[in-house]
Amino acid sequence: MNEVTTILKAEGIEKRFVQGDEAIEVLDGVDLSLAAGERVAIVGRSGSGKSSLLHVLAGLDDVNHGQISLVGEPMAPASNDARTALRRKYMGFVYQQHHLLPEFSALENVALPLRLNGLPQRQAEQQSGELLGRIGLGARLRHLPAQLSGGERQRVAVARALVHQPKLIMADEPTGNLDTASAAELMALMVELSESSGVAFLVVTHDTSMLHQFDRVLTLVEGKLQSAAANDDE
Ligand SMILES: Nc1ncnc2c1ncn2[C@@H]1O[C@H](COP(=O)(O)OP(=O)(O)OP(=O)(O)O)[C@@H](O)[C@H]1O
Ligand SMILES: [Mg+2]
Repeated sequence: MNEVTTILKAEGIEKRFVQGDEAIEVLDGVDLSLAAGERVAIVGRSGSGKSSLLHVLAGLDDVNHGQISLVGEPMAPASNDARTALRRKYMGFVYQQHHLLPEFSALENVALPLRLNGLPQRQAEQQSGELLGRIGLGARLRHLPAQLSGGERQRVAVARALVHQPKLIMADEPTGNLDTASAAELMALMVELSESSGVAFLVVTHDTSMLHQFDRVLTLVEGKLQSAAANDDE
């Protein structure tokens, strides 16, 4: 069997939102192919549909038209259960606001995807502790999200997205709430992780100072993705 090197493939994606008798055409024929280990940034004006695109690519929302496959398996069209199963197996997601569970420690938050994939608690926590140690949070395992700094919380969120060894991590403005130094640190961590683990990253960002760290930069304009030079300002 051939090794699958295309991690994510999307063809002809259309997405519209209907409100009353008005339809907003947000995605109007998006094509995207992501190779194993590739780091791709998506930029575009506010309201251009970047978050909507990540959500449909992650199978968190339906498409109106088009096909998406993740590691060769159909993400759209597919049932909700099939999409959830694919996400758990192959994908991690990082939000602008960490979305960690407030009552759970850093360790428990990171262990959650492993528990959902059926790993016993002790093993899940051991692997999670090792990963948190590797990313410099070994002394924060029992901290609750509220007891961590913003930068630390995002690092925990990245660890949670990575712990089950996915093929792809999607992130929607993961550095958007951080100061410049913490943002640069988080980005460096993501680059290091993609190089050491081979995980691909698809990242929405407004931060043009980060763009040189990506293999490709794509701009979402009028519902379509266009190539952009990595150091363009827009
Ligand atoms: N659930 C929804 N129902 C109706 N309209 C929506 C919904 N979600 C998004 N939209 C609309 O779709 C468009 C794209 O929204 P989206 O959040 O994807 O933009 P974005 O590029 O992520 O913007 P930002 O940079 O501000 O985060 C916007 O005009 C928004 O109002
Ligand atoms: Mg958005």
